[in-house]
Amino acid sequence: MSKNNIVMTVAAGGCLQGEVPVPGDKSISHRSVMLGALADGVTEIHGFLEGDDPMATLQAFRAMGVRIEGPEQGHVVVHGVGMHGLKPPPRPLYLGNSGTSMRLLAGLLAAQPFDTTLTGDESLSSRPMRRVTEPLAAMGAEIETTEAGTPPLRIKGGRQLKGIDYEMPVASAQVKSALLLAGLYAEGRTCVVEPGPSRDHTERMLQGFGYPVERNGDRVCVEGGGRLRAMRIQVPGDISSAAFFMVGAAIAKDSDVLLKNVGINPTRTGVIDILQQMGADITLEKERRAGAEPVADIRVRGSDLQGIEIPAELVPLAIDEFPAIFVAAACAEGKTTLTGARELRVKESDRIQVMADGLNELGIDASPTEDGIVIQGGRLQGGRVDSHGDHRIAMAFAMAGLCASSPVVIGDCANVRTSFPDFVATAWRLGMNIKETAW
Ligand code: S3P
Repeated sequence: MSKNNIVMTVAAGGCLQGEVPVPGDKSISHRSVMLGALADGVTEIHGFLEGDDPMATLQAFRAMGVRIEGPEQGHVVVHGVGMHGLKPPPRPLYLGNSGTSMRLLAGLLAAQPFDTTLTGDESLSSRPMRRVTEPLAAMGAEIETTEAGTPPLRIKGGRQLKGIDYEMPVASAQVKSALLLAGLYAEGRTCVVEPGPSRDHTERMLQGFGYPVERNGDRVCVEGGGRLRAMRIQVPGDISSAAFFMVGAAIAKDSDVLLKNVGINPTRTGVIDILQQMGADITLEKERRAGAEPVADIRVRGSDLQGIEIPAELVPLAIDEFPAIFVAAACAEGKTTLTGARELRVKESDRIQVMADGLNELGIDASPTEDGIVIQGGRLQGGRVDSHGDHRIAMAFAMAGLCASSPVVIGDCANVRTSFPDFVATAWRLGMNIKETAW
């Protein structure tokens, strides 16, 4: 366990009750700063996630000469410098734990007139980057990785990029977005074909900034050489953060929670469909729009869950929510099987192995497979699990406490602040008995 860390201890049992907002969407927060920085004019952002990950993006643009005010209670003002106004940063851009910052910036910076180096923490430094550097190289970019294809990324400036037509081998919003951002600067058209739907926030936001994006079935294209017009952005609550309390309420009898103002973009709602198929009582209330994105309040009540075979088509639509879904599966009756989710092995941690280890530690029969997991629902005991510095694993295991027979202690939780800085306070508001200890 690393120094300066946090242990979370969750008392066994209880239920969740009450209404809470959830923090701003991480994916949309990143993109709002990136596009705001490149726009002509001043972009006002409300609901920005003040987590370490989007803050890494914000600091990177400050280091490239963009004046950014805030964040102050989620309010950020970005003074756009236009498509060609970024300045060379004085030193390498450190992006912490944030894969989204690194992969999207790789695309954007491949097209700038100056060199940049992108670095990250231990977890980010072991994540695969060839999935972006290879197609970017096909566009004419020059980006060096380690021999293993991992960060740091050394990006050579001054390259004129050319549009390509790229068929992505795996559904990835980060790869798609990196190529579209590079495509804004490329000669001609850049098209990306997706093997399955990945989140489409980049496309929606580009259009919001007045940049034409063409979508034809699974193919999305941009034409280089356009401009972005500053706009006002209302970031919806993050369904990936809401997912922990959706699971917590679903597995704990007598729960009744209302998660307010949550983004329900159809490329993100797999967790709702999966939990409903397991028998969860989830309803959407007050469906409305926040700019280009649909939002709703999500009500979840406790119920008895059953294990299921998770449908393959829902996997990319719930890709970040599997740690929480695995906890729901552990508390369900019968077997849950996931396949086609090899990507989980290269997230902030190997989420298949780390979740299986933790669930085993809590007395649950969970067997990893190459591209998924088989979980036999049962009686969770308490115990001590290690999140391996993965924010979503830490928060998922916190929910496990609600259906455990004795306390659950979770190690290495400091990274919860990358996506959900107020997680413990929000859990308290809903009635959880959870405490944090510095380690
Ligand atoms: C993200 C895309 C997803 C997701 C990540 C955020 C994004 O990764 O796991 O947390 O903001 O584009 P993929 O590149 O696998 O889609």
